[in-house]
Amino acid sequence: MKTKKNTQNIRLIIFTLVFFCFTQSFCYAQQNFWEPSHIIGEDEENIELKIDSIVSQLTLKEKVDMCHAQSKFSTKGVPRLGIPEIWMSDGPHGVRAEIKWDDWGYAEWTNDSVTAFPALTCLASTFNPELSGEYGFSVGEEARYRKKDILLGPGVNIYRTPLNGRNFEYMGEDPLLASKMVVPYIKGVQKNGVAACVKHFALNNQELWRDQINVEVSDRALHEIYLPAFKAAAIEGKAWSFMGSYNKFRGQYCCHNDILLNQILKGDWKFDGVVVSDWSGAHSTKESALYGLDIEMGTGTDGLGTTTASHYQHYFLATPYYNKLLSNELPEASVNDKVKRILRLMYRTTLQKNRPRGKMNNKEHHGIAKKVATEGIVLLKNENDFFPIQDKSGLKIAVIGENATRSMTLGGGSSQLKAQFEISPLEGLKKKYKNAKIYHSMGYETGPSIYDTVMPASLDADSLKVAAVNLAKKVDVVLFFGGLNKSHLQDSEGTDRKQFGLPFGQDELLGEIQKENKNVGYILMTGNAVEMPWIDSIDGLIETWYLGSMAGEAIADIIIGDTTPSGKLPFSFPAKLEDNAAHSFGEISYPGDSDLNQHYKEDILVGYRWHDTKNIKPLFAFGHGLSYTSFEVSNIKIDKTKFTTQEHIELHFDVTNTGNRKGAEVVQVYVGKPNSNIKRAVKELKGFQKVHLENGEKKNISMTIPVSSLSFYDEQISDWNIEKGKYNIYVGTASDNILKEITITLK
Ligand code: GLC
Repeated sequence: MKTKKNTQNIRLIIFTLVFFCFTQSFCYAQQNFWEPSHIIGEDEENIELKIDSIVSQLTLKEKVDMCHAQSKFSTKGVPRLGIPEIWMSDGPHGVRAEIKWDDWGYAEWTNDSVTAFPALTCLASTFNPELSGEYGFSVGEEARYRKKDILLGPGVNIYRTPLNGRNFEYMGEDPLLASKMVVPYIKGVQKNGVAACVKHFALNNQELWRDQINVEVSDRALHEIYLPAFKAAAIEGKAWSFMGSYNKFRGQYCCHNDILLNQILKGDWKFDGVVVSDWSGAHSTKESALYGLDIEMGTGTDGLGTTTASHYQHYFLATPYYNKLLSNELPEASVNDKVKRILRLMYRTTLQKNRPRGKMNNKEHHGIAKKVATEGIVLLKNENDFFPIQDKSGLKIAVIGENATRSMTLGGGSSQLKAQFEISPLEGLKKKYKNAKIYHSMGYETGPSIYDTVMPASLDADSLKVAAVNLAKKVDVVLFFGGLNKSHLQDSEGTDRKQFGLPFGQDELLGEIQKENKNVGYILMTGNAVEMPWIDSIDGLIETWYLGSMAGEAIADIIIGDTTPSGKLPFSFPAKLEDNAAHSFGEISYPGDSDLNQHYKEDILVGYRWHDTKNIKPLFAFGHGLSYTSFEVSNIKIDKTKFTTQEHIELHFDVTNTGNRKGAEVVQVYVGKPNSNIKRAVKELKGFQKVHLENGEKKNISMTIPVSSLSFYDEQISDWNIEKGKYNIYVGTASDNILKEITITLK
């Protein structure tokens, strides 16, 4: 009896199990696989299953249509299956105004004014990765609110020449700084269900001939200098998209480059996201199909201009691709891989059910924009405590220079913004100073450019100069707002600067002013290093970068002393152009020869690596930045001095604010290897820590540096390698201000 009973039980269990599985699979089959899914808790496995199922239901035409633009900034979905379009927008510092469907004109919407955040050069100058995360989250929140699925930024091309028009969009000359600052930005953006799009991959280090120049660089410099920030973005930042760059690398366009996209990005780094071309960066159907491009954008335009309207079916990855797939000239697997990547990006963005809604122009974003601005401003020189300038009644201050009133969010190319507001330095100062009298004179004029209103004829250079000099005679202190701007041939996309010195007759004007009033403080607004023939005649010099909506408030806070500057230079300021590495090897090195070939002859010695190793003193060094207070870094010690390659170096030190103002210091740790068997820079940044301190406060800081980060890229084995023996650890507060050297040994 017992046996019979057991048998019945077993049958019942089996029947129940079979029935359960059947019902489950049945419901599963009914569910639209592309139903928006929880990104939180939705396991990757499940999404991949859905993706595979969708691909199996798409027609070839539908697949091909997803791989190229349908308008200036969007790609087709599959209406038949409820698969959405993808909408993209520039840029790294804020969400660009809506552009028309089929030309570069603005759509003149009235609801797309945004917060303009500081340029990424300023963000890098904060040396504050946590702040970068807040920045990324805020700009991503605005992109989400503007219903953009891909934000076309951040850019992390290395600062190689001070003439590159787009340096203001990037994060400086050091691969470790750019790596540490870009990862939190990406994570912040993507928390909104918006894809970051890391650009321009790779070796887009100038604007001149950007869409044709062929860059040749050694594997070692490629891996040690130009790729690390992109690698960190892909592996640590888990960026959901990358943008190929216009230029060529080793003879192949970077938007469809087998080495960069297939072998390195998607192979070695296991990038599972989408590669978008730069606008008109694709040049071949076969190469786009096989060498790593997933979405072709902007073909037929140079990123700024345009050729024929609504010609999207002529794109390389449109009808020509479709026909080659039909005839089996190209494998269908190539389009399936692209579509899977695109769908994966969709599940992370448009198809993510729990995506936050986004926010725009709120006080939190204004607060972050101001915080980045004030933490990024760099006090370069401050003899006789020129800055800060107290707000004393009776004090007369002249604010001279067009940069004190000129919009710096308009212009510059694709990163330009329609800011909801932009507080100019003059406005900020007038609002901040309640007792002192603030006067303004334009001083110099920058002449009309594609972004300027045409200058009134009356404002000719001479009358401007006379007015400014006359004003300088009557005041106690002059604040000279000089620098560059976002117009053509200045800090702008599409061209490089033609000169290292400042334009618009600023230097002459400054000289005239100084004849009447020696008490001049210089506020330099640039995204690049510039020549400063007047540096010895100036006691106070501040680099403000381009600061966006909150510029005037941040600059005024620093000038009056409500905030102590704590920014550090993310790139070197050479005294003269020929002191820069790229400009030391003739035209083949910069801007390239008449065949549009370019060789990065300085190899790994970029920026301070060059200055240190060639003993060329820069005007201002990488990592330099002064404060209104003073700091002491003491008790620098290391837990041991012998290491194996798997270990970490533990550094400890105290930082004390020995002055009478709250401030922040950035302790920087560099490492070099004396008597190495290979070519090396004297030292390379391997770690940094920003420390905020009230006056009198002391903090004990620990920093760990993985020994593996001392590796070099060994071209003999095409892989990373590490030398045994002695290394020097340099601890300091600037690349030219080393406080302690510690020797360690690698066993
Ligand atoms: C431009 C830029 C790129 C931008 C794109 C769309 O040419 O190179 O950074 O995102 O086109 O405007």
